Amino acid sequence: MSETPLIELEGLRTHFFTDEGVVKALDGVTFSVPRGRTLCVVGESGCGKSVTGRSILQIVDRPGRIVEGRILYHPTPHETIDITALRPMSRQMRTIRGGEIGMIFQEPMTSLGPIQTIGKQISETIRIHKGVSKAEARNQTIEWLARVGIPRPETRLGAYPFELSGGMRQRVMIALGLCCRPKLLIADEPTTALDVTTQAVILDLIRELQEEMDMAVMFITHDLGVVAQIADDVVVMYLGRVAERAGVETIFDAPRHPYTRALMRSIPRLGGSREPLEAIRGMVPHPFRRPSGCSFHPRCPEVIAGRCESLDPDLREFGDGSQVRCLLYGSQTEAQQ
Ligand SMILES: Nc1ncnc2c1ncn2[C@@H]1O[C@H](COP(=O)(O)OP(=O)(O)O)[C@@H](O)[C@H]1O
Ligand SMILES: [Mg+2]
Repeated sequence: MSETPLIELEGLRTHFFTDEGVVKALDGVTFSVPRGRTLCVVGESGCGKSVTGRSILQIVDRPGRIVEGRILYHPTPHETIDITALRPMSRQMRTIRGGEIGMIFQEPMTSLGPIQTIGKQISETIRIHKGVSKAEARNQTIEWLARVGIPRPETRLGAYPFELSGGMRQRVMIALGLCCRPKLLIADEPTTALDVTTQAVILDLIRELQEEMDMAVMFITHDLGVVAQIADDVVVMYLGRVAERAGVETIFDAPRHPYTRALMRSIPRLGGSREPLEAIRGMVPHPFRRPSGCSFHPRCPEVIAGRCESLDPDLREFGDGSQVRCLLYGSQTEAQQ
């Protein structure tokens, strides 16, 4: 645990300044991504998973921006780059984005350009980031397409994204995310739209490449079945903050935060029915109306009356590196208002 992590998020706040008000999508996110391991980021829709990934890459959509906090990137254990200090379109940021940190998204069309052949998109990316010749980039492109399971890659180079099936497009996007051999792959629900068989193939592929390249993976998903298959560590987010972070065994066998426990109860069981999280208590509040105190208290089955609605718990560290933000585990800060 003492090794310098690859990425450290410190008190990251990313807000969207809309006409209706400020959406505090990230409201003080702190966690680290270890080298060479798989960290899954989970939580219900709207809790800030995608905005976290996009903040690291400095591709937050307008009207959003990082307003506070730091993103420290350690390319080697002895180097530190503060990503939040770089301009999004600066040369250094463009070198990091897509070169040192690769990304794949749920919807392939958001990262694949519609009017360029897939061969050109991948080979240009390799050329820009690796500075190799055109011929070499073409060879590597063919290799990557073959690795992600695209048949007859030489003839597929000239295909446009719209000519491919959804599963094939997803594979192309994965090739694009991996072709520069990144130190970190940020995968934002990359298999959600796929059938179970293709999903399994792609998870295997990511795992295989991860071992080969010693790549860290930050895998964003709301599918706890996927988490069980691939995670080393898990970060549970709720309303733009970390509720809990722990090793995957702890998350499944001894979850601490009542929110994590509620998520665990929502996993489908063999032969059993899935209990929707909404059935536990209420919905995720609208981001304009963040509850006072612990933001989970209105839905929490273990709420402590007279405390949880006014006290904002700190993220408490345990000896094994796990963390939880909940008054059941002590440490708290008096609400300032
Ligand atoms: N472009 C945007 N404009 C306004 N609000 C946004 C925008 N993108 C995301 N948000 C808000 O930020 C919050 C976090 O979103 P997101 O990270 O996409 O959630 P998740 O990926 O966990 O489902 C949500 O409340 C969402 O509505
Ligand atoms: Mg998302």
